[in-house]
Amino acid sequence: MPEGSETAWIEVIQKMDDVYSELVQSQTQVEIQNARLEETQAFIGSVLAAMTDVLIVCDPECRIQRVNRALEELTGLRENELVGTHLSEIFAQDCHADITELKARVRNVGQINDCELALAGSDGQPAPLAMNCAIRRDHRGRIVGMVLVGRPIGELRKAYRELDEAHHRLTQTQQQLVVSEKMAALGRLVAGVAHELNNPISFVLGNMHALKRYAKSIGKYLAACKPGHSPEELEDLRKDLKIDRILKDIGPLLEGTTEGADRVSDIVQDLRRFSSNQEEPVEQFNLSRVVRTSADWVIKTERNKPQVAFDMPERQDVFGRKGQLHQVLVNLIQNAADALAECDNPLIEIRCWQENEDVLIEVADNGAGIPPGNIDKIFEPFFTTKPIGQGTGLGLYVSYGIAQKQGGDLTARRRPGGGAVFTLRIPADAR
Ligand SMILES: Nc1ncnc2c1ncn2[C@@H]1O[C@H](COP(=O)(O)OP(=O)(O)OP(=O)(O)O)[C@@H](O)[C@H]1O
Ligand SMILES: [Mg+2]
Repeated sequence: MPEGSETAWIEVIQKMDDVYSELVQSQTQVEIQNARLEETQAFIGSVLAAMTDVLIVCDPECRIQRVNRALEELTGLRENELVGTHLSEIFAQDCHADITELKARVRNVGQINDCELALAGSDGQPAPLAMNCAIRRDHRGRIVGMVLVGRPIGELRKAYRELDEAHHRLTQTQQQLVVSEKMAALGRLVAGVAHELNNPISFVLGNMHALKRYAKSIGKYLAACKPGHSPEELEDLRKDLKIDRILKDIGPLLEGTTEGADRVSDIVQDLRRFSSNQEEPVEQFNLSRVVRTSADWVIKTERNKPQVAFDMPERQDVFGRKGQLHQVLVNLIQNAADALAECDNPLIEIRCWQENEDVLIEVADNGAGIPPGNIDKIFEPFFTTKPIGQGTGLGLYVSYGIAQKQGGDLTARRRPGGGAVFTLRIPADAR
């Protein structure tokens, strides 16, 4: 072989070697890239499969390109059945107009958050989704479609509905608790109220007896006022029957009787308001009088009668719900009286004063006080340290609720010298 052609062959073979090794190298590169691509795809696939939110990728014409497992489960269709279909085919009939509008809006603003659309669910029931939609662009910035992510809110709605029903039942139970607490308190108060009624009734009865006697005397005198009796005889009879004193007495006697009847009517009204289960209107009243009535009703029934010291103005006008505040005050004073049942010098001090827009009422006693461990528990329903049959443990729970509902507050603290102090704060004008 001539020397020139041998060299040429060697060059060709070398070239072939080079090409071959380049081929091997690029083959290895391709394999590495492929492995990476598969890894990335598996990663994306696992992320999409793990998503509980629904994912839909579609082209600019709203034809589905890719979905995740959450959507497959909700629609009951596989991804290969969904790809290529129009978005409107998987959404409920009444959402079709929204989808058309959505497409236009996303194009305009780029992103839409929290719009609600319902999928046509596999069980025939619409499955509501809270959707976020965003425009999708390619590497050159051209619009290539939309990405929709939806959170199923059917379960959430169901949970809300259940929560709402539970809340409704709770409110009803709370109202029943308020009534039971009131009835329990009323049971204890009856003796005190009867005592309160007894006073005015006994002096109304006394006055009626006197009036009957007076009527008899006046009748006798009028019967004598006929022709045949001399003026002197009549004058003597008038003196004997004490007609002048009777006439002077009748006015105050009637006034006193009316006052007694008014007092009875007030007590009956207080009692009716206290026991009523109707929603009370806000009205103007003298809080000082309600405080006194509450104390009177409670103390009258106590065996070991505490002394009650008031430090409050004669009139403390407020606009509020009188019957409810009466209930709170009876609760607080009853608790103080209970704490003093075995005490040697039982004393309840009640203060009432105005502070800016609020009126404060403080009920303090010199009993054993509230143990530090109980101070956080006393406002809980059914917490009581009293024997069965004496306390329901609802008094403070209900009172706290009433105070809060009226825009006020009820707090408890230990008294430095021993005993407990409860402070009720209510707005002076709850209109
Ligand atoms: N003035 C007070 N001194 C000491 N402890 C008190 C006082 N007031 C309340 N407590 C404590 O708070 C608990 C709860 O009071 P709450 O009024 O809610 O229920 P109760 O009085 O036990 O029962 P009831 O439902 O009849 O009112 C009482 O059992 C008592 O232990
Ligand atoms: Mg109580």
